[in-house]
Amino acid sequence: MKTLWHNCHAASMANGSYSIIENAAIVTEGAHIAWIGPHSELPDQGDIRAFDLSGAWVTPGLIDCHTHTVFGGNRSGEFEQRLQGVSYADIAAAGGGIASTVRATRAATEEQLYASAERGLQHLLKDGVTTVEIKSGYGLDLASERKILRVIRQLGEKLPVTVRSTCLAAHALPPEYKDRADDYIAHICSEMLPALAAENLVDAVDAFCEYLAFSPEQVEQVFITAGQLGLPVKLHAEQLSSLHGSSLAARYQALSADHLEFMTEDDAIAMAASGTVAVLLPGAFYFLRETQLPPMDALRKHGVKIAIATDLNPGTSPGLSLRLMLNMACTLFRMTPEEALAGATLHAATALGMADTHGSLEVGKVADFVAWNIERPADLAYWLGGDLDKRVVRHGVESTF
Ligand code: NIG
Ligand code: FE
Repeated sequence: MKTLWHNCHAASMANGSYSIIENAAIVTEGAHIAWIGPHSELPDQGDIRAFDLSGAWVTPGLIDCHTHTVFGGNRSGEFEQRLQGVSYADIAAAGGGIASTVRATRAATEEQLYASAERGLQHLLKDGVTTVEIKSGYGLDLASERKILRVIRQLGEKLPVTVRSTCLAAHALPPEYKDRADDYIAHICSEMLPALAAENLVDAVDAFCEYLAFSPEQVEQVFITAGQLGLPVKLHAEQLSSLHGSSLAARYQALSADHLEFMTEDDAIAMAASGTVAVLLPGAFYFLRETQLPPMDALRKHGVKIAIATDLNPGTSPGLSLRLMLNMACTLFRMTPEEALAGATLHAATALGMADTHGSLEVGKVADFVAWNIERPADLAYWLGGDLDKRVVRHGVESTF
């Protein structure tokens, strides 16, 4: 059954870059886009169901390509400590940070984790997100990582959102492996990843390459195992220091390298050559009061695709609005509103390996889009959060919240 969506403008992101169609019409057939273009060029559709979008701007459904939505507890106490001057690294060294969320997550039941993650995810959906990536990484043993990944799968089954699941077992060293990081990496490679992949709980593999987490050599072992299992890789890289994890990620054709404040121009050259997307996380930059900016000029000069995500997590970015991140990408990183919007649609889809089906409004792609009651696309990066007036269409059907 076909449906016409008309009386709108479209920020279509067609042909791989920001692009707009004024006075547009969209025809969906089932879950896909059957036609899009200027309304004046619409071929006769006969007797078709039609929805008047009242002059709205239509964008692809927003894609949050980096979140850690499933976790126990929260870390507002650490937020207060950091406001008193204690650093993120000091808190981690004293047994707080990721380790404290690991304790809370291990202690929580699957049902408890589902309930709290659903609450967080609802905020993103209300903001126009139709696809989200969610990482494990607060379990750090097989049973607890499995518990998180099962919750991630359930979120995708029960909520009106497409969910990609990433295994981040190499997020931090669990207490049982204190001073034995190589042994933990070997355990991830020989036991955890093969078991979790066999249970179809994993769409991609991530790691945290940092002096307070894992070395490039250790990350490489994880990447090699992911490759043997046929899984794409991603990497938290260059967030606090420069270890050239982003170049390592590029060598393994990673879908993305994420954070990147401390990356170098050579890293950008390597990422451009491999098509690895730079996922920038302005919420974490802001929340950690980071001052080292990602090298925007080098990323642009070498043509690296730039995505924007919330990094929703309890330690460094309790960010419940992807649009707020668009604003931060503009105000903090000096991106344009057009670059930021492409970063939360088109390039975010590439960062998830979904560019063939998602991220732009083009014939044959999945009909996930948002009709925003705004004056101009830049308004999406202008308002600081809030529940903007909008209609969300997923798989060709309007969602209600
Ligand atoms: O993306 N960088 C590592 N991981 C998360 C933070 C995790 C935490 O502090 O709980 C991030 O910022
Ligand atoms: Fe993260």
